[in-house]
Amino acid sequence: MPAKSILVLHGPNLNLLGLREPEHYGKATLSTINETLVNKANTANIALETFQSNSEADLVSKIQTLASQKVDFVIINPAAFTHTSIAMRDALSAVKVPFIEVHLSNVYARESFRHHSYFTDIAVGVISGLGAQGYSLALDYAIEQINHS
Ligand code: DQA
Repeated sequence: MPAKSILVLHGPNLNLLGLREPEHYGKATLSTINETLVNKANTANIALETFQSNSEADLVSKIQTLASQKVDFVIINPAAFTHTSIAMRDALSAVKVPFIEVHLSNVYARESFRHHSYFTDIAVGVISGLGAQGYSLALDYAIEQINHS
């Protein structure tokens, strides 16, 4: 059984990937993205769980579980909550698990309300604009960090 684990969190409307504004978010579905991540992590002998919710409360509660559950790294696309959720930021600060913030689109090339994130200054790093590949690159980094810790 893998001793190390990673949690991938997806915020609101990301369940619609594939259908939703492909010019911004690409054509890959969330299940395809998740499957790729699970396979990559398992190959590295690391357990990977994925969780998507449209509810801020559910995402906060999921993050809070990390206080008692050993998870080594989080990869999170907070989606629209990036720009609004002090509650999710506070939950991540509380549990102190290192995380990478991922956005499919380049939020800095879009509307100005997308330029501010409540997560960036407490994240290990941010990947924005590389589409679904951004999650894989974040996972490569997380695996490397976990294996060298
Ligand atoms: C997003 C960018 C956000 O501004 C937007 O609200 C999303 C997705 C992205 O992955 O590019 O829902 O996080």
